Amino acid sequence: MRKDKKVHIQTFGCQMNVSDSERMLQLLSGIGYHHVDNWKEADLLILNTCSVRSKAEEKIYSILSTIKGKLKRNSGLIIGVGGCVAQQEGEKLLKMAPHLNFVCGTHNIHLLPQMVKEAEAGKRVSDTAFIDNEMRFDLFPKEYQATGVSHLVTIMQGCDNYCSYCIVPYVRGREASRQAEDILAEIKSVASKGVREVILLGQNVNSYNLGAGSANFPALLTKVAEIDNIERIRFVTSHPKDISSELVNSFSTVKKLCSHIHLPVQAGSNRVLAMMNRGYSREEYLLKIEQLKKARPGISVTSDIIVGFPGETEEDFKETLALVEEVGYSDSYCFVYSPRPETKAAEMPDPVPKDEKQERLERLLELQRGLSKTHNMSLEGSVQKVLVEGSGGKTGQISGRTSGNRIVNFPGSAELVGNFVDVKIIRGYQNSLLGELVS
Ligand code: 5AD
Ligand code: SF4
Repeated sequence: MRKDKKVHIQTFGCQMNVSDSERMLQLLSGIGYHHVDNWKEADLLILNTCSVRSKAEEKIYSILSTIKGKLKRNSGLIIGVGGCVAQQEGEKLLKMAPHLNFVCGTHNIHLLPQMVKEAEAGKRVSDTAFIDNEMRFDLFPKEYQATGVSHLVTIMQGCDNYCSYCIVPYVRGREASRQAEDILAEIKSVASKGVREVILLGQNVNSYNLGAGSANFPALLTKVAEIDNIERIRFVTSHPKDISSELVNSFSTVKKLCSHIHLPVQAGSNRVLAMMNRGYSREEYLLKIEQLKKARPGISVTSDIIVGFPGETEEDFKETLALVEEVGYSDSYCFVYSPRPETKAAEMPDPVPKDEKQERLERLLELQRGLSKTHNMSLEGSVQKVLVEGSGGKTGQISGRTSGNRIVNFPGSAELVGNFVDVKIIRGYQNSLLGELVS
């Protein structure tokens, strides 16, 4: 077997895809592939794709078509598509793109080495069969690689919520939780390799559940916090309807839990929340935020927000603006609604013109920019514990994150990467903080 084959994986979308790409690389190293930064040098190119909005999906078709034009120079290149577009389109992708060699579904990553070998032998293959239960996790590699100081750990996958706009349940399958002992073994293993922070990952981490008698999510957090050398715990993503009082309480009792929660509200009007099938009201959401702020004073809250949901009126949108202001998000990811195949919302009448949706997005972004800056400026003069992750925005600077998940750039030596340092915040900008080391 050739040992020097090169793979380039291009990852799109969320942290689940980032984590899946890490697993792909690990599996491919077992058949002699190592990662290269440029696909033009690669023997194998994998696009790990996202289909949450149509733009993300269209981007993949555009990349596939660009590559086709350039293939003459690298005609031996094997090309595969993984992730959500692969799951959604399956074999159709092979028909659409004759230069594509394989399609690997979201539950089929363990098959990747086999698929690549078949592609090397000249076959074109697609596997997108779901493994819709906990068995899926038995197919994860049992050796764990640490890729930095912060490590993504999958604790559950899939989503059973069927928000009316969302394609995730169709491309990621039913919710399934990973055995606590496997999660803890992975964390212990990476902790011994220099990892200081874990990000517990799932489409809906609060639904972590292996049945009666097993650890629920707050209990899992407590167990993770007992692991030596892990000093910070984060989790993503949470569903507001599943934030239990026990989980709120974890922010008081589990000191290693970071002072940040990403709690996507999606919309501020009860009418739109109901049409979205979110399972909570504006008032219930705000109550949970209040409880979280009480349990962990100073907690930073971030959100995902959709504007221009079918039938959203100016009044509905104003309620979103008012909610965003009331919560005072330190950041939020704002999107214009994009109709997705198979979803309920795609069938709903949508009289709001495109321009108006775009204009609402601009107004929301403007508000959020101001709130982010206010939040960051409120940290000026404070001393923050920062986990140093790498080089900073400018020469001579290094960069890390506060417990509240704010990025801080400050002068310092690269030798500090992987360490916790105290940093005094000098300036708060819209997207980051500037600081100086406290000796
Ligand atoms: N259109 C726009 N945004 C969407 N999201 C999910 N589906 C859609 C859609 N159809 C957003 C939600 C979700 C984030 C990951 O992407 O805000 O939280
Ligand atoms: Fe999509 Fe809703 Fe599930 Fe999140 S909770 S993945 S938005 S269906």
